[in-house]
Amino acid sequence: MTNQTSGTAARTFPEGFLLGAATASYQIEGGAHEGGRGPSIWDTFSRTPGKVVAGDTGDVACDHFHRWEADVDLMADLGLQAYRFSIAWPRVQPTGTGDFNEEGIAFYSNLIDRLLDKGITPMITLYHWDLPQALDDKGGWLSRDTIDAFVVYATRMVEEFGDRVRHWVTFNEPWVSSAVGYGAGAHAPGHADDVEALISAHHLLLSHGRAYRAMKAITSEIEVGLVNNCHTPRPWDPSNPKDREAAAYIDALANTMWHQPFIDGTYPEVLKPGTAHLTDWSFVHEGDLEEMHGAVDWFGINYYASHLVRHNPRKGEAVSGVATLADGHKAGANSPWPGDEEIEFMPPVGQLTAMGWNIDPGAFHAHILKIHRETGKPIVITENGSAWDDVVDGDGRVRDTGRIDYFHGHLNAVLDALEEGADVRGYMAWSLMDNFEWAQGYAKRFGIVRVDYDTLERRWKDSAYWYQEVLRTRAIPAVDAALAETPPRTS
Ligand code: NOJ
Repeated sequence: MTNQTSGTAARTFPEGFLLGAATASYQIEGGAHEGGRGPSIWDTFSRTPGKVVAGDTGDVACDHFHRWEADVDLMADLGLQAYRFSIAWPRVQPTGTGDFNEEGIAFYSNLIDRLLDKGITPMITLYHWDLPQALDDKGGWLSRDTIDAFVVYATRMVEEFGDRVRHWVTFNEPWVSSAVGYGAGAHAPGHADDVEALISAHHLLLSHGRAYRAMKAITSEIEVGLVNNCHTPRPWDPSNPKDREAAAYIDALANTMWHQPFIDGTYPEVLKPGTAHLTDWSFVHEGDLEEMHGAVDWFGINYYASHLVRHNPRKGEAVSGVATLADGHKAGANSPWPGDEEIEFMPPVGQLTAMGWNIDPGAFHAHILKIHRETGKPIVITENGSAWDDVVDGDGRVRDTGRIDYFHGHLNAVLDALEEGADVRGYMAWSLMDNFEWAQGYAKRFGIVRVDYDTLERRWKDSAYWYQEVLRTRAIPAVDAALAETPPRTS
């Protein structure tokens, strides 16, 4: 990977390239019982003892539901050119079917208008994991009825906002919804079943395909994408064919199955034999794959860390006594990877973030090029960032140099990939502000703006000032640019 400009600002992001930041509804909004919002599976899950660190919930979160106007002002002060946010389905349609909630729709409509007023391009994610609880009561993503419900919801949202919003995401990280929510049980709805992981995955993918067609039928002006988190499984020993096979299998489960159906109407071949002891895949009905074929305009990549895997028939012994396995799931919990009985994720090496994740811009760069090669579609980096144990210094500053270094390396990886031909259209930093980090509650901070959870005050970290320079210059400043004089800034 070339990195000609580390420390200089010679290269710039191309015209039209969207530079922004991202958040998600349950992670920031709060107002969980206000404005007619119905309960979601995350309200239920976070109230289930033992599921979220410290018993945290999204009831208040960053209180964005009440502070959205000031938050948009903050975005404008930062110079964001784009803002990716998600709509809480239960806020606009409390039970996931039937009546829509005008008050909830008005909340997002006002948000969009204010963004546009400030010259910030909105990007909507329709589903960032907060399924209406009433739909889960009827089977959630294991039921085909949820697919129909999602299409109705997606259609209505485009009817409401399609005149003002061009960039749409159906699902955020459907791998997490299925593998972690239904397979490992570490996320809502907290099931732990290999086959359910695959069924829900297929239903999520099919929902995207159907919703895509319904949304585009309303207006062809919108661009509808699917956001996938990536794992970058590389073989532990590249010379060992079994390790290479293990990496290829995880790649199919983690990456390829989430785009291939839309490119050529098939699932990766290794999946059926790899899971034959679990399921015959009869949950894939005739015609499903045809519906998915061609149904995407672009792909979003959420990237955080890289992964090394190996084949190990004695995996059970290798991981005995380990509390958290290297792929992040808890020992004793079901694995998020159906058919991985002899595949082991190896512990990350090098410097780790507060999540215990490694820092590997090279793998990011390779992954962008891989998705470009395999799909030929435009790409948006819909999330990228890192969590650190930030501290507020005596002078009020948060000197989060680790986060700045991380952004510096990964933004350079994006520019490298662009120069090598990948059609990357945007980059959204994760996250605009600290927020509810799912099963980790408020313990992990990803924001460039700090949130004090007692007062809900927003405080610019050094990374916010640094990213402001990126936004202003459309280039990548040196890691210590613009930081010497940063005054504490709060709102
Ligand atoms: C991806 C998810 O989309 C987001 O909700 C989460 O906070 C980040 N990863 C960090 O874990």
